[in-house]
Amino acid sequence: MTGNTTVLVVDDEKVVREGCSRILSPEGFEVLAAANGREALEVLERESTNVVLCDLKMPVMGALEVLEIVGQRYPDIPVIIITGHGTVESAVECMKRGAYDFITKPFRADHLVLVVRRALEKQTLERRAWQLQEERARNLYDLAAEQSRVRTIVSCMADGVVVTTPDLEVVLHNPAATRLLESMPLVNQGGALSDYINDDNLGNALKRLLANAEGEEECIAQELILGRKHLRALSALVYGPERQVLGTVTVLHDVTSLKELDEMKSNFVHHVSHELRAPLSAIKQQHSVILDGLAGELVDKQRELLNRAQDKIQGLLDMINDLLDVARIESGHGVQQQVPLNLANILQQTVTLMGSKAEEKGLSLELELPEDLPLVQADERSIEEVFTNLISNAINYTPDGGTVLVSAIPHQEYLEVRVSDTGVGIAEEEISKIFDKFYRVKHPQTRQIIGTGLGLSIVKGVTEAHRGSVEVESKPGVGTTFKVSLPTISGGKLADYGQD
Ligand SMILES: Nc1ncnc2c1ncn2[C@@H]1O[C@H](COP(=O)(O)OP(=O)(O)OP(=O)(O)O)[C@@H](O)[C@H]1O
Ligand SMILES: [Mg+2]
Repeated sequence: MTGNTTVLVVDDEKVVREGCSRILSPEGFEVLAAANGREALEVLERESTNVVLCDLKMPVMGALEVLEIVGQRYPDIPVIIITGHGTVESAVECMKRGAYDFITKPFRADHLVLVVRRALEKQTLERRAWQLQEERARNLYDLAAEQSRVRTIVSCMADGVVVTTPDLEVVLHNPAATRLLESMPLVNQGGALSDYINDDNLGNALKRLLANAEGEEECIAQELILGRKHLRALSALVYGPERQVLGTVTVLHDVTSLKELDEMKSNFVHHVSHELRAPLSAIKQQHSVILDGLAGELVDKQRELLNRAQDKIQGLLDMINDLLDVARIESGHGVQQQVPLNLANILQQTVTLMGSKAEEKGLSLELELPEDLPLVQADERSIEEVFTNLISNAINYTPDGGTVLVSAIPHQEYLEVRVSDTGVGIAEEEISKIFDKFYRVKHPQTRQIIGTGLGLSIVKGVTEAHRGSVEVESKPGVGTTFKVSLPTISGGKLADYGQD
């Protein structure tokens, strides 16, 4: 038994007090003594006590009174009653009033130790039970507080929140979801998600997440178009403590006004670009007439200045055309004329067209194509633009004397076209930004190259509109490879379409 376990012996007979002490002390108990109930209560006030051994009959204050007061003030201290012969009934009465046990005088030493130990065990168990009960009450309180906090946060959110079971039954949604999804009731009343959202994309995305639980896709972001509303939906799975899937959560953000603003901006850019193109083309045309000597002889200086002006005008025209292309792709009108195409022809033509530019820089521009390329379903003009931009970049951002290689590798369901160069390369932290509109990398070696930063945004827009993708691998100072993957027409070879 532990050294700090204290037993209080309350008996008016000194021999009993001393006897108990003699028996219990060697067992490791600290023994305190009191001659009557009142003294016992004083000791209990002062000393922390584990068990009370109390004589039934004492002058001043007897066991029944002690039991009552201890029961009220120290409910976790077990009281064992010491009785003489013939007073067993009274002892039983004490038990009814809360005594833990009784022991009859004269008692055997081992019996006393046993009863005290049992009482201590009971006390330990009771204390543990109380602790657990308190802990449980605290946990329940914390849980209720947490739930209340989460409920308030969710219902105050400006974004819509929809929570479902793994069977896509709606179990919770907030007022914002009701506002965004017109058929969503104000109060939750269960029902399938498909009853409330008239768009299969969300349900399909959630099914994909559920089928892929523990897989790579932790979260799906997509745009939902519901009538005039554009919503950005972010969906994720909810896991339980044992990683079992409890359901899904979708947060809906209203981006309608941003979309409208973006459309206004695109319309404005489109309009301005259109208005600028015609007069600029006219100025360029008139300069050409002057340069051709049709408006009289030119001296060398005049010719030089006009040529420089022509270059600037061409730069402006290129930018305007790029801006118009971006607007066209963004409006979804850019890639409408998709027909079966043989990329070999397009790549050959583009490489030939860019040949002189590469030659000027002393670059070797090579094309490596396997025979029998599979066909892709694509819009010819847009696809030409993709490769013109990539090859033009490779030439622009490769120092004199380098190499640009254009190649194509057919895979089962897609065709991969690579444009590799031995140029300045792109730092890793820039890779995610180069496809943004107007983004240009600041690099001392490419500062003098004129550009708008629209080329790669066109490349990405066009490839994605063809359900393809574009990837970059680059090492600064070594070179860059752009890989464009486009879905092929399954099994479609040139001959099937009667082309050559
Ligand atoms: N092959 C490449 N090697 C190194 N850097 C490149 C390469 N291609 C693109 N970049 C970097 O990415 C940036 C964005 O390219 P993007 O084609 O969009 O614009 P740009 O070439 O600057 O202008 P433009 O709109 O006239 O094409 C470039 O400014 C350049 O810094
Ligand atoms: Mg470019």
